[in-house]
Amino acid sequence: MAEIVAFLGMGGTIAGTAQSADDNVGYTAAQLGVQNLLQSVPGLTRILGARQALAEQVCQIDSKDLMHADWAALLGRLKHNLARPDVRAVVITHGTDTLEETAYFLSRALAPELLAHKPVVLTCAMRPASSLNPDGPGNLADAATLAVWPGARGVLVVCGGKIHGAAQVQKVHPYRVDAFDSGEAGPLGLVEEGRVRLLADFPRADHGQAAVDVEALQAKGWPRVEILLSHAGAGGGLLRALLREPEGEAPLRGIVVAGTGNGTIHREMDAGLLLAQARGVRVVRVSRCAYGQVVGDAPEAVAFSKYALSAVKARIALMLDIASEA
Ligand code: SIN
Repeated sequence: MAEIVAFLGMGGTIAGTAQSADDNVGYTAAQLGVQNLLQSVPGLTRILGARQALAEQVCQIDSKDLMHADWAALLGRLKHNLARPDVRAVVITHGTDTLEETAYFLSRALAPELLAHKPVVLTCAMRPASSLNPDGPGNLADAATLAVWPGARGVLVVCGGKIHGAAQVQKVHPYRVDAFDSGEAGPLGLVEEGRVRLLADFPRADHGQAAVDVEALQAKGWPRVEILLSHAGAGGGLLRALLREPEGEAPLRGIVVAGTGNGTIHREMDAGLLLAQARGVRVVRVSRCAYGQVVGDAPEAVAFSKYALSAVKARIALMLDIASEA
């Protein structure tokens, strides 16, 4: 039985096209199918060896418009593919804008046993496929290299020759080809001329983590969690508007506050957050700093719990925590 590497397409700039080959900015994302992208990958047959490539289009979107239903669709196809004994690994082509959110969501939502011995590798591009000098084919070649690398496992991101873990990875640049960073942790490794050089171990499956029942989430509705940013001149108006719950909006279940520095919150927001919490809305603090995480508890913020994640990932964590408690 020949092994398979499944390539799932989600859209993004990697699948984008512009009118002109010298336009790396004014393009439309998500135009080419994943099968088409595979044809542009240098040496894919050599990288895969005896393995076969299986291409599947799951979505075709600009990832800034990603919806929870798209995650549900992706998770369904991942579960199906990873459970197949002949599938060695899954590669996902995805837009860069919310790639870190999808990577984190998958690392939390997939059953640990599915990731214990197989990698899910997300990759992307900063330049459209129509560019004179596109970065997508090289990134996809690196993703395929990583996918079949001995011992590779867990949810991984590869872009610009660097391998990142799902919990740390963050888009840090709106234009540069090397647009991702893992902060203080640094990348897990590098892909160099078709070889993986590891700087840290691949992520270990967390066997205490329960898989997310995404069908139930879709049926019941994902808990509504919003993000607020504390900043100079912050007031309570946005929070009051959130708590008013306009008609047709799902009830607010959680708020992530990206606090200043060590997760501190403007005093004008604080009272509203305490009120929200008293009404049963879960409030979680993170730091809005690019590096580090909230350390200890500042006296004025102690009423709220904290997560050691970026605000967008904390939103996902809080949604999943609320869903698992319901
Ligand atoms: C997207 O995120 O889908 C568009 C931007 C990109 O992929 O760089």
